[in-house]
Amino acid sequence: MAAENAALPGGKVGGVGDVVRDLPVALADLGWRTTVLTPEYGIFGRLAGASLAGTLEVAFAGKTLAVRAIEIPGPDERVHHVALEHPLFTPQGAGRIYCDDGPARPFATDAGKFALLSAAAAAYVAGLDPAPDVVHLHDWHAALYCALREFDARYARLQPIRTVYTIHNLAMQGVRPYAGDSSSLASWFPGFVFDPDRLRDPRYPDCINAMATAIRLADRVSTVSPTYAREILEPNDPARNFRGGEGLEADLRRCNAAGRLFGILNGCSYPRRDRRRPGWRRLLDTIGAELETWTERWPERRHLHELARRSLEAMPKKRPDNLLTSIGRLTDQKAALFLERLPDGSTALERILEDLDRGVLILVGSGDRDLEASIGEIARRHRNLLFLCGYSETFTDLLYKAGDLFLMPSSFEPCGISQMLAMRELQPCVVHAVGGLKDTVRDGVNGFAFGGDSASAQARNFVAKIAAALAMKSGAPDAWLAIRERAGAARFDWREAAARYIGDLYE
Ligand code: GLC
Repeated sequence: MAAENAALPGGKVGGVGDVVRDLPVALADLGWRTTVLTPEYGIFGRLAGASLAGTLEVAFAGKTLAVRAIEIPGPDERVHHVALEHPLFTPQGAGRIYCDDGPARPFATDAGKFALLSAAAAAYVAGLDPAPDVVHLHDWHAALYCALREFDARYARLQPIRTVYTIHNLAMQGVRPYAGDSSSLASWFPGFVFDPDRLRDPRYPDCINAMATAIRLADRVSTVSPTYAREILEPNDPARNFRGGEGLEADLRRCNAAGRLFGILNGCSYPRRDRRRPGWRRLLDTIGAELETWTERWPERRHLHELARRSLEAMPKKRPDNLLTSIGRLTDQKAALFLERLPDGSTALERILEDLDRGVLILVGSGDRDLEASIGEIARRHRNLLFLCGYSETFTDLLYKAGDLFLMPSSFEPCGISQMLAMRELQPCVVHAVGGLKDTVRDGVNGFAFGGDSASAQARNFVAKIAAALAMKSGAPDAWLAIRERAGAARFDWREAAARYIGDLYE
């Protein structure tokens, strides 16, 4: 059960969607039958072949809601997709997976929506005959299922079913008050009798923490890389720019000491591919055509698209010697180090652009408005930065193939998929050696990795690592080619991951 499912059109926002699409297929290869549960979001029920499988009676917010379970055919017929439909799953209109409530009432809209997901999923699973062997929950959106299973007598049938919880990103935990708010535990589940200590947030004693609840109550807990599973046992340390347990380190240590915590690296798919590089003109034309459609989709980013059109016109006519690429959501997690200051006061991104002799950086991503504005400002002053504020698979695929060096300086990274996609297309990466980036990119072997014991040291090392990689590319072409080949030969295999899920978590 998860908030996202990339197997269904419109079902993906981030990497969770990819995992929820790919893991069930790999499990099917190993003989497991899976059903993926998500909200319907007002869109999946309209997909071709969708059919009503049944109607659930779900106790929620003091009422009995009729939630429709809709079965939707997916790309692999061995995997079942069930979307749970109710108007409360679309509080801000159809197609919206996450809603942003801002800092005053964090998670308020989403927490209610996902509390209903947990309740509806509990009713769905309790009605299955025979009962499934395993229920696998992803991230805080699915986490309150564990509280219902543990404390709600109506769902006693769920207790013997092995329940597994995967942490994709500890930065989002779903913290809400116990009571006194329209989005609180008491309003979703009035009369619910439970042990408050098992649901409590370690920092805010009047709040529940969905993430912490599942870490405490699931039979097994996993994260999406072995290194991240170790990092989260330590507290965050802002002085070192180190992100660890995000306040849940004590719970995670207890979970680990009890032998319940595992780190399993996500996989990547490896379709047969064309090793030829797309031409420069084709790349720019594809980007240009796509840009034309963006302003209509994201009118509020019109000025950034206008800027991108001007940058595009100013791009060199021939392919530059060095094409750097970076693709990712613009969040602090992914982009803060680009904007970190160096000793001379300039940002890492500015320095990279200034050092980049006869080179271009194409940076794709949108998200945090302040980050978008800061990068836009730098793009205005640097002709060799093409900043594409949005997202489109039409040209990101081309960019993975076309680039010489992929940049991924995440401050923390539970697993990360973009580095795997770049490597698959023979594009070596420069990454911050944390979490899944450390587990996939080996410095000097199949790519380049930097560290540092403060944000500014990390920014300095990031800039220096790019310079060293480009110096290798021009000065030691054989060594460079060997790194490229090893990046392309690396395999992060879903089937291997699925075997570990089965061995470590399911059985
Ligand atoms: C989250 C993490 C990312 C991971 C993905 C899938 O988005 O931030 O590192 O790759 O989940 O597990």
